[in-house]
Amino acid sequence: MFNHSSRKTPPTPPTAPARSTRTTWTVALFAGALVVAAGCVAKGSRVFAPEILPLPAAADEYDPIASYDYMEIPADNPISAEKAALGRQLYYDYRLSGDGSRSCYHCHQVDLGLTDGLPLAIGAFEKQLTRSSPTMWNIGYHQFWYWDGRADTLEKQAAAAWKGGNMGAKDTAPVLAEINAIKEYHAQFQEVFGSDATEENVSQALATYMRTIISNDTAYDRYVAGEESALSEGAKRGWETFQRIGCTECHAGVLFTDLQFHNVGIAMDVEDYDVGRFKVTQRPQDRGAFKTPTLRDVTKSAPYFHDGSVATIEEAVRYMAGGGTANEWLSDKLKPHELSDAEVDDLVEFLRHLEQPATDAVRPPPIPGTDD
Ligand code: HEC
Ligand code: HEC
Repeated sequence: MFNHSSRKTPPTPPTAPARSTRTTWTVALFAGALVVAAGCVAKGSRVFAPEILPLPAAADEYDPIASYDYMEIPADNPISAEKAALGRQLYYDYRLSGDGSRSCYHCHQVDLGLTDGLPLAIGAFEKQLTRSSPTMWNIGYHQFWYWDGRADTLEKQAAAAWKGGNMGAKDTAPVLAEINAIKEYHAQFQEVFGSDATEENVSQALATYMRTIISNDTAYDRYVAGEESALSEGAKRGWETFQRIGCTECHAGVLFTDLQFHNVGIAMDVEDYDVGRFKVTQRPQDRGAFKTPTLRDVTKSAPYFHDGSVATIEEAVRYMAGGGTANEWLSDKLKPHELSDAEVDDLVEFLRHLEQPATDAVRPPPIPGTDD
């Protein structure tokens, strides 16, 4: 449930990522219902829903990681409750994969913090992939997708996950034929898109569903909204430490990520290491840089980091607090700190208060044409 007071005071002063010129819409989710820009007041290329979410004084100064007020949605794929519901079915449907063995959810499961519990993901046709499955929480607020940010819309990301190694549906034609042959799906695609299922509209529906995967009601959120007892004493100490030693430099704002890319030294000692963001930008300073992951639900998503190389949350916290692994491109925002065991315990205790209660929206729905 949205609590308006929680959004007026962002917990940390976030650093603003580069602004995008895409259309900005307002979406709100509450009580499981998708409320879409009701009672729109058009202003420039944006749509607001003032009765649902308070308008910032100057919308142009809006900072995407400071609050949940806005989510950018491409103008050619407007959000609707029906489209999100269709996308949700597709996201959980194993028939989407090239060999029928995987759904999107297979690697983004709610009990595992919307990941798969593996160090490195294994795709359709048992293809060994090179990176760890990241979480999906608040993914619609991101501006670049994948660990290295190589996709610049969620629609492109969805198409790539579907056709690439994850789902292995290199040729989508047989999958689309199967979907179009299912009565319920056929009717839904006609209603939502006015056409049969196509490669483009399947990706659009998947992206729309993913925009509804929102984490905003953890114990921490209740604490920020004024419920003093929502954090345990240990968690409060952990939150203090988290801010004092600069974790908020990158795990910033309500999203607990600055949506930027940093080298924190993971796997930099490996020969032939994963160059990360560098592959996309070719800028030397982006070598070994990966997108800051959110820390919402992080206690459930072991093992950690883009290569899944760290098994427990305690070790991951110790690694980050220790300032990472020295290398030429290590972020200067990461400073080494000596923490006692008790301080590490408190930090982990704080992270446990970022666990997101699972709603039906992130559990499998009934799938058309199956007994599920
Ligand atoms: C085999 C496991 C697997 C399956 C199946 C899978 N994914 Fe993923 N997903 C991953 C991995 C691994 C990555 C990170 C890849 C990278 O960064 O290079 C990822 C990344 C993502 C991201 C980007 C997250 C971010 O932080 O930027 C999104 C969104 C996503 N997947 C959605 C989907 C959708 C939609 C599907 C179904 C069409 C899907 N995934 C199927 C493993 C999987
Ligand atoms: C310079 C920015 C930066 C700072 C400061 C920072 N982090 Fe991170 N953090 C990252 C990035 C980037 C990653 C992913 C790195 C990778 O996988 O290569 C990450 C990963 C993590 C992970 C693993 C998450 C996952 O899903 O795998 C945890 C836990 C974490 N950080 C906790 C912390 C804590 C605690 C602090 C404070 C001591 C901190 N971080 C400070 C940028 C930062």
